[in-house]
Amino acid sequence: MAFQKPTGTQDLLPGVVERWQFVEDKARDICRRFNYREIRTPLFEQTSLFVRGVGETTDIVEKEMYTFEDKSGRSMTLRPEGTAGVVRSYVENKLYGEPDVSKLYYIGPMFRYERPQAGRQRQFHQFGIEALGSVDPAIDAEAISLGYQFCIDLGLKGVKVEVNSVGTPAVRAAYREKLLQFLTPMKDSLCKDCQSRMERNPLRVLDCKVDQDKFTDAPSILDSLDEECETHFNQVKAYLTEMNVDYDVNPRLVRGLDYYTHTAFEYKAAGIGAIDTVGGGGRYNGLVADVGGPDQPGIGLAIGLERIQLILENQEVDVEAYKPIDVYFVALGEAAEKEITKQLYLLRQAGFVAERDYLGRKMKAQMKSADRMQARFTAILGDDELSRGEIALKSMESGEQKTVKLTDLAKELK
Ligand code: HAM
Repeated sequence: MAFQKPTGTQDLLPGVVERWQFVEDKARDICRRFNYREIRTPLFEQTSLFVRGVGETTDIVEKEMYTFEDKSGRSMTLRPEGTAGVVRSYVENKLYGEPDVSKLYYIGPMFRYERPQAGRQRQFHQFGIEALGSVDPAIDAEAISLGYQFCIDLGLKGVKVEVNSVGTPAVRAAYREKLLQFLTPMKDSLCKDCQSRMERNPLRVLDCKVDQDKFTDAPSILDSLDEECETHFNQVKAYLTEMNVDYDVNPRLVRGLDYYTHTAFEYKAAGIGAIDTVGGGGRYNGLVADVGGPDQPGIGLAIGLERIQLILENQEVDVEAYKPIDVYFVALGEAAEKEITKQLYLLRQAGFVAERDYLGRKMKAQMKSADRMQARFTAILGDDELSRGEIALKSMESGEQKTVKLTDLAKELK
């Protein structure tokens, strides 16, 4: 019986993986410019971290976590998102004691037991950032603009930013009452999920894909904001306007994680099938304290890289998918074989991308192989050339061939 990959996972093979590297390079590059530094945290954490951090009544914690007991009977969970682990690490390593804001980024796999579809996997990948230690609305704008600029750097078109303020827990509690007053009379007409959400997490009802049109007259959270929340939100918007980041205010934007306070935002784009959210994030001023740290604020975002890949493909963005090799060695005869093995290593040491045949193929097949690898040059060595300490160098583009000294090979290739 042949094995198959688990449902909702992908093999990223050569040819495709270069498209991922292209995106990851752009992520690292933008983080460099915005002065975010990489953090790598474990792929699994104590289950209670996510229950506390992400929130007990979220879909993620209720239905989607890969939770297992380890051999000592501790409950562990494959990380369903990156923020909780980063915040745990920030607290554990006392990064809050450092004089500057901690500006961190990560790229890596996350795990959620969801029903797979285009842009939704069980093992998926996020590029995320977290900035911890500042309440300045300018850093909200920085985070939002980083994700926006990332999409532009990738060459994506039509990416929209939606922003909202979800207030403080006190603001939300008051809004929750108003919303329940609005929702209760229509409860029976709502979908099953929403009926149960109404009891546990009524704000999530507004996010329902089925019943959207029923909520046009729902009270807006923006009308419930207190002065502090409103001032913060207005400043964030003013900065975004100043920066020319194209955004819309969406008062019905509620994120699927419980830790958000104040700013919440999402990036939307067409071209991922039924799903249109590429990424999202927001401020989480209570999370550090919730997981046992000091009262330090934070803000961050994460972008789904499977979704980025789908849009790149859909918009036919030109991605440099394969990097050609510099030189392909062809040996004719046993002595030549020996010599090219050495020359190959020398060139690789000197920084060239070099390859040879390992299948004992005829010269013609080897030349075809060089073609497939888009070699700039083939270097052909026969007994004659070898006896003179030379090698034939052929430009694959022009077809021009010349004989060069073996000792000059690197110089010639430059
Ligand atoms: P999230 O909205 O749950 O936020 O996920 C962010 C992005 O990850 C989504 O917009 C989507 O592109 C991608 N994503 C989520 N689930 C899947 C899936 N099953 N398959 C493929 N892609 C998926 C967070 O995770 C927060 N930690 C973001 C954040 C960082 N907030 C503050 N800091």
